[in-house]
Amino acid sequence: MNDAQVRELQSLHPELASLFFQGAGAVSDAADEAALEEVRVRFLGRKSALTQILRAIPSLSPEQRPVVGRLGNLVRAELERLVEARRAELRRASLSERLAGERVDVTLPGEPFPLGHQHLISQTIEEVEDIFIGLGYRVAEGPEVETDYYNFTALNTPDDHPARSLHDTFWIDTASLRWRAAQDVSGAAEAAAGGVAKTAAGGAAKTAAGDAAEVHEVLLRTHTSPVQIRTMESQSPPVYVICPGKAYRRDSDATHTPMFHQVEGLVVDEGITLADLKGTLHYFVREFFGRERAMRLRPHYFPFTEPSVEVDIECLLCGGEGCRSCKYSGWLEILGAGMVDPNLYGFVGYDPDNVQGFAFGMGVERMAMLKHGVPDLRAFYDNDVRFLEQF
Ligand code: DAH
Repeated sequence: MNDAQVRELQSLHPELASLFFQGAGAVSDAADEAALEEVRVRFLGRKSALTQILRAIPSLSPEQRPVVGRLGNLVRAELERLVEARRAELRRASLSERLAGERVDVTLPGEPFPLGHQHLISQTIEEVEDIFIGLGYRVAEGPEVETDYYNFTALNTPDDHPARSLHDTFWIDTASLRWRAAQDVSGAAEAAAGGVAKTAAGGAAKTAAGDAAEVHEVLLRTHTSPVQIRTMESQSPPVYVICPGKAYRRDSDATHTPMFHQVEGLVVDEGITLADLKGTLHYFVREFFGRERAMRLRPHYFPFTEPSVEVDIECLLCGGEGCRSCKYSGWLEILGAGMVDPNLYGFVGYDPDNVQGFAFGMGVERMAMLKHGVPDLRAFYDNDVRFLEQF
């Protein structure tokens, strides 16, 4: 509305003029869209004073009608325009307020995303594997649930052998397993064939009872050495394998857990001597524990090697001076080894006159404890990330 229009309005219809000023003021005072809508209804709605004035036009004199009509419509159009302008202004303001609140500073450093890594035991196994793979060895694996034959008998440890008692073995009660299997079978058969199943169930029960005598037949392997036998059974010489995996014994203290890991090694070829064993292990020790690490062999006994040795390394803490951790000997035992007892070749069909071999077996937890100074083996299995994160 320009000045001339305002002056005309004020002189011809002061009531409309004052309505217009009140309305324009209220519109610009409206702080948000809801308040603006109230103002619009109050000044432009059906019950507003403006609407009353426009509705009353027909009752005016013929001279007044066009004047009030023109001015009333002018005021209405002007107020409507002001309301729309204010609405747009409020929308812009609330949008920029929201944008300001949601602003992202893309130059800030991102949230660190914690990256996990392999467990120290898995890392240690891979480290050992890599060293032997570098020497041309192949990785072989075998079952953790073994038979007495592979775990003991074929490793030159017959039934009455005292070395068996050194392994606190977890035996698997196969009689009860078969009894369960028989029940499952008879249950299924019964459902399928009604009366006929009774005979089947009776038969199965008898078999299970008969097998009770063979309870000590299946076990959780007490070492990874059975993989030696399985490997030799499945291939002819030359054999160069390492066999990482889990082993189980009924032990539990600061240096033993019922489940632990070993890496077994086996070499069978022509002309293999104890010097090859010693050279191979010394290479391994220097790669794993560091270049300067001295090593020694001590005579020992294992049923499946002849002669057998235990392998020590210079104490990692005192360097051979003698300290508490090496019981003042200057040496730490790390693994058992020896020349494959020729008796084993009889179990796998190798000719003992033509091949020789050596074998060794190490405890992975022990290697990791020594290398990283871990005092309690159970820490490996507590799953406390504060411990695990360190490696
Ligand atoms: N199997 C043995 C143990 O668990 C370790 C061992 C000793 C493995 C001598 C070997 C070996 O292959 O030659 O105590």
